[in-house]
Amino acid sequence: MADTFYITTPIYYVNDVPHIGHAYTTVAADTMARYMRLTGREVFFLTGTDEHGQKVEKTAADKGMTNREFVDSIVPRFRGLWEKLDIEPDDFIRTTEERHVRAVQHMFSVLKDKGDIYKGEYEDWYCVPCESFWTSLQLGKGDTCPDCGRPVEKLKEESYFFRLSRYGGEDGELTRYLEANRDFVVPESRFNEVLSFVKGGLRDLSISRTSFKWGVPVPGDEKHVIYVWLDALMNYLTALGYPDTDSEKFRKFWPSSDPVAVHVIGKDILRFHAVYWPAFLMAAGLPLPKRIVSHGWWTIGGEKMSKSKGNVVDPFAVVEELDRHGIGADGFRYFLLREVPFGLDGDYSREALVNRINSDLANDLGNLHFRTINMIEKYLGGEIPILEIPDNSTPQEALQNFFASMIPGNYDVAGQQAIFGIVSKYYKQSMDKLDFSDALDSIWALISVANKTIDYSAPWNLAKSEKTEDRRKLEDVLGVAAEVLKVSAITLYPFMPSKMQLIWEQLGHTDRLDEKIIDISDISFFIYEKGQKIKRGPAPFPRIETDRIRALKAASDAAAAKPAAASIAAAVPLAAQPVNPPSPLVPPPTSGGGLGRGPQIVDAEAGGVIGIDDFMKVDLRVGKVLEAERVPKSDKLVKMKIDIGAETRQIVGGIGKAYPPEELVGRTVIVVANLKPAKLMGIESQGMVLAAGGVDTLRLVGFDDAVVPGTKVK
Ligand code: MSP
Repeated sequence: MADTFYITTPIYYVNDVPHIGHAYTTVAADTMARYMRLTGREVFFLTGTDEHGQKVEKTAADKGMTNREFVDSIVPRFRGLWEKLDIEPDDFIRTTEERHVRAVQHMFSVLKDKGDIYKGEYEDWYCVPCESFWTSLQLGKGDTCPDCGRPVEKLKEESYFFRLSRYGGEDGELTRYLEANRDFVVPESRFNEVLSFVKGGLRDLSISRTSFKWGVPVPGDEKHVIYVWLDALMNYLTALGYPDTDSEKFRKFWPSSDPVAVHVIGKDILRFHAVYWPAFLMAAGLPLPKRIVSHGWWTIGGEKMSKSKGNVVDPFAVVEELDRHGIGADGFRYFLLREVPFGLDGDYSREALVNRINSDLANDLGNLHFRTINMIEKYLGGEIPILEIPDNSTPQEALQNFFASMIPGNYDVAGQQAIFGIVSKYYKQSMDKLDFSDALDSIWALISVANKTIDYSAPWNLAKSEKTEDRRKLEDVLGVAAEVLKVSAITLYPFMPSKMQLIWEQLGHTDRLDEKIIDISDISFFIYEKGQKIKRGPAPFPRIETDRIRALKAASDAAAAKPAAASIAAAVPLAAQPVNPPSPLVPPPTSGGGLGRGPQIVDAEAGGVIGIDDFMKVDLRVGKVLEAERVPKSDKLVKMKIDIGAETRQIVGGIGKAYPPEELVGRTVIVVANLKPAKLMGIESQGMVLAAGGVDTLRLVGFDDAVVPGTKVK
């Protein structure tokens, strides 16, 4: 297998400030670079800026700046964004650098000497913003650019041409190459587009301009500047030292034999990368990159992002907001690669971002982290236990048996997927294909099984038992939970480098994940280490309060101040009907509301019975406890955040004597969802959790199997 890996992003136009589209490509490439380093490859990760062209010249003039001043003023924004997003390229190339100008001119001369460049006259439609020529057949309605919809200009000028036509057609060199390398472009649908375009025959390509100056001059004919796409594409070679093809970097990373070079691009620039670029390389006698990975586009509310629509999402602002919530860039990185399969288009919204972070990171991974770390500290003195592996079995078999014994039959599928060996296979296969969302799915299957294992084995009960067998079981459950957390930290590190380092350290490690090398195809074998102690620290992913919860809170605060106001009830949609509690879990409030009239629920009807309609007035919902903490100065009250499907509720319950908070996190409970909010010791409770028994002997009402939060209980 190749031991070097070259990954590039497109170089970004400086006529625009960075937006989420740019962030997407670069996060994907950075994630891939980190993954490849983790697997032991020597990686070279390149990004940069595309600074020449007519558009830059125009924008700079409009701003009263020189071209150089203008580009210099924009580049730091890109560099700054990459820093903010924890993106660590090995090089940042600018097309205005001298090394690049030299490389482009050299390439031009090579192509010319080869006889693949000739001088002619060019006449066609040109889109300045896209720097693209179009034939009249390709134009959109009213002579507009088929890509961006803006008006195009007719251009006629003397031009150098590249003999692209040589490479296309039924028997062209590029056609033959594509037919023999069907994974040259992924996804497959885009490969097919490219192949039929090339097979259909190609026109020679105009590769110089005389209508503007801001570019790389044609060697020996300086009134021409080299076409920006030839200029831009060459960045991939410049950064490796071209024209010195004997340089160490060039030999290491340009794919003459083993090395693997991957260009990550958006679908809009596929033609340049999958048609022009390989043809230039073929003409120059250079090898082609291994793969062009073309991702989809982010839209906003189903529409293309554009300055004129004012709907451009600024990644700086997104990450700054996430910083305020203690989530940081990692939440955004995760969202971008998890939300939409790479290759497809996706629609961006703040709501989708928050939901994704809350459900996957704060709930699933956050729960596993919280419970594992807390219980290891509490029940095992902080030392991570080790799963006992019988002499006659492998760690995988031991884990398989463990999951099979801990999780009831209906979790077979998840259980199967969760076996570390299988997960690592899916993860590896998916990552190698840049199938990020699939790779994350496989890790989430594992996280979910680990959470279920904790639910089913109830370590909090095992810890109370004196039996040796229960003690062993307790150690096994928490040992496996810690291993799953460890595997998650490693496999998710390329996606969320800083948060995974945090979890890694809380698991007692002192080394750095960005310096680790791991055999991903064999994850289960490196994870057993004896005598490791956990180190408690901050929660990696605090939950983001949604606007709905904030609105609910604000409304119920107002309701507490003015209990009679009708308008307030209307503003609290799920907490409108006052009903009486069937259990003492939430003690009666000291003032206001109808919470203290428990026994009357039956007495209110003659004969002690109620009709089904009365019962149906109580909105009982399945809830999942996301967070739980003691209410200060109370031995009984616990403040919980409970996911009830449509929203998350804060509920204060008198269960602290029967259940320590960490035993509540992750539990499925029944919530009375339409109870009027009340304040307990000054803390608002937005519902009630059902339980039976006295204060000390209280048991939560639950289910014998997992039920989705929000499901109605009837
Ligand atoms: N300068 C050229 C690339 C030259 S590479 C030799 C260019 N620059 S760009 O700044 O316009 O776009 C760079 C990348 O951002 C492209 O891969 C493009 O697909 C991506 N995106 C721009 N807007 C996007 C979205 N709305 N969504 C996803 N990616 C998008 O093209």
